[in-house]
Amino acid sequence: MPRVKLHRFTDNATRPDIIEPGKPEYEQLGGRWRTDFFPEPHPLTLEVGCGKGEYTVGLALRHPGRNFLGLDIKGERIWRGSTRAAELGLANVGFVRMRAEALAAQFGPGELDEIWITFPDPRPRDRDIKRRLTSPRFLNLYAELLSPGGLLHLKTDNAGLFEYSLEILAARPDAVVERHTRDLYAESGPEFAEAQAIQTNFEGKYRAVGLPINYLQFRLS
Ligand SMILES: C[S@@+](CC[C@H](N)C(=O)[O-])C[C@H]1O[C@@H](n2cnc3c(N)ncnc32)[C@H](O)[C@@H]1O
Repeated sequence: MPRVKLHRFTDNATRPDIIEPGKPEYEQLGGRWRTDFFPEPHPLTLEVGCGKGEYTVGLALRHPGRNFLGLDIKGERIWRGSTRAAELGLANVGFVRMRAEALAAQFGPGELDEIWITFPDPRPRDRDIKRRLTSPRFLNLYAELLSPGGLLHLKTDNAGLFEYSLEILAARPDAVVERHTRDLYAESGPEFAEAQAIQTNFEGKYRAVGLPINYLQFRLS
């Protein structure tokens, strides 16, 4: 393993804002994130597949009265988010290294108030449909973990994944799509301002080559 990566993994093991397998908190925080992890028991937003954490950190900066967790399987990426959060002195942000498939083991029913799914891997092959982060099994997980009325957001450059997600939601009696657009940055309405305010690492790259960004806000009641 490259030395820099190894050094970051060693760092992660000692950082209190990163929860990962092997730390006692990894087994203990389910249902108690607000009270036992964050200094203030504010509402909790989770970013699934946060990569380098720009969005989680950006949201935490914009909303000091809320708590934010970035989740990703890649330790080296969340190290960057954690480093940035420390530079900014943010106490309302943390990171958890885990697979999204295991969400129900890590969070209690109703523990989350909001979920952002930002530029997930599109998984275009039919045999990978169930791995898409907006497939029915993931939506069922989110529905269980969100508080009543909890909000979900999807941002993606991938038109196939976006249309798939809209179709899956249209087939669910519990889903309410509040707004969607196939070109987020062409929108001028205030209802899109929050989604336009921060960009992820991948979003910046896609916008730089002129790709439109799809955005969807919905609830699973
Ligand atoms: C295309 S990147 C997007 C990263 C970031 N959201 C952005 O927009 O810059 C997808 C991220 O999702 C993570 N990921 C993919 N599948 C995952 C899973 N099942 N559980 C947790 N993380 C996952 C990857 O490690 C990667 O960092």
